[in-house]
Amino acid sequence: MKKVAIVTGGTRGIGRAISLDLAKQGYAVKALYARDRESAKDLEETSSKEGLDIVTLKSDLSKKEGIDEAISLIKAQTSKVDVLVHCAASGVHRPAKEITTKHLRWTFEINVIAIQQILIELLPLMSSGSRIVGLTSNGGTRTIPFYTAVGSSKGALDSLFRHWAVELAPSGIAVNLVCPGMVMTDAVEAFPDKEGRILACIKQTPTGKMTTPEDVGEFVSFLCTSRMGGQFVGQTFTIDGGKCILA
Ligand SMILES: NC(=O)c1ccc[n+]([C@@H]2O[C@H](COP(=O)([O-])OP(=O)(O)OC[C@H]3O[C@@H](n4cnc5c(N)ncnc54)[C@H](OP(=O)(O)O)[C@@H]3O)[C@@H](O)[C@H]2O)c1
Repeated sequence: MKKVAIVTGGTRGIGRAISLDLAKQGYAVKALYARDRESAKDLEETSSKEGLDIVTLKSDLSKKEGIDEAISLIKAQTSKVDVLVHCAASGVHRPAKEITTKHLRWTFEINVIAIQQILIELLPLMSSGSRIVGLTSNGGTRTIPFYTAVGSSKGALDSLFRHWAVELAPSGIAVNLVCPGMVMTDAVEAFPDKEGRILACIKQTPTGKMTTPEDVGEFVSFLCTSRMGGQFVGQTFTIDGGKCILA
């Protein structure tokens, strides 16, 4: 029986690359998305052309009903979960003084709260050897202009996952986080100062290259398929060409 991987935000950007890479490793992938049907359709077509096993599931994780719907859709598709990747994220890009409670709630609902409920509901479908991976950002531990809402949600996600990691390690389920440097996706398009940031990122990166969605996809697959992957517990793996180690 094929191993099953669930990828939230799995139909475009970094999530799409994770879905494709896991499917190439032989997983039956359930890729979740919220609104962008075109990207989901494009992934389905690519998957079918390449003979991969990817099903897309639509639900909006910003609302309780959407989270319930996502859980029902997943349970209707599978009775076991070998890999769960939380890649979906959204958020409001504004200075701290302009972030309202509504902005913060919206951001936290998708980036943090949704995955807590999904984890609780899907845990009975997981067993020793299952893997859980969260996508975080260095904005969770450092400051980035206009990143107050998303950065604080990533800080919360990091802590949430570390606590899950310790609780689940004895049952053989490894929980970790992957922290990419800047990756060219629609999320970067949303930054008010996009061009300056891209140039600065390349200049400040020792490899002189930005991280690609495929780099992240390959690393997530490594975490999930490695024989000794169970020994990685509660870690945050940075993939940024060495940028974060510079003073
Ligand atoms: N790009 C970067 O430079 C970078 C750097 C560090 C960390 N990350 C993290 O990596 C992950 C992927 O980033 P990305 O750049 O690939 O993002 P992206 O291109 O903006 O894609 C976001 C994904 O999240 C889904 N999503 C958004 N709102 C949702 C909602 N309400 N309910 C359910 N799903 C929702 C989207 O679904 P739809 O397609 O339906 O909208 C999409 O699949 C995120 O967690 C991000 O914080 C990104």
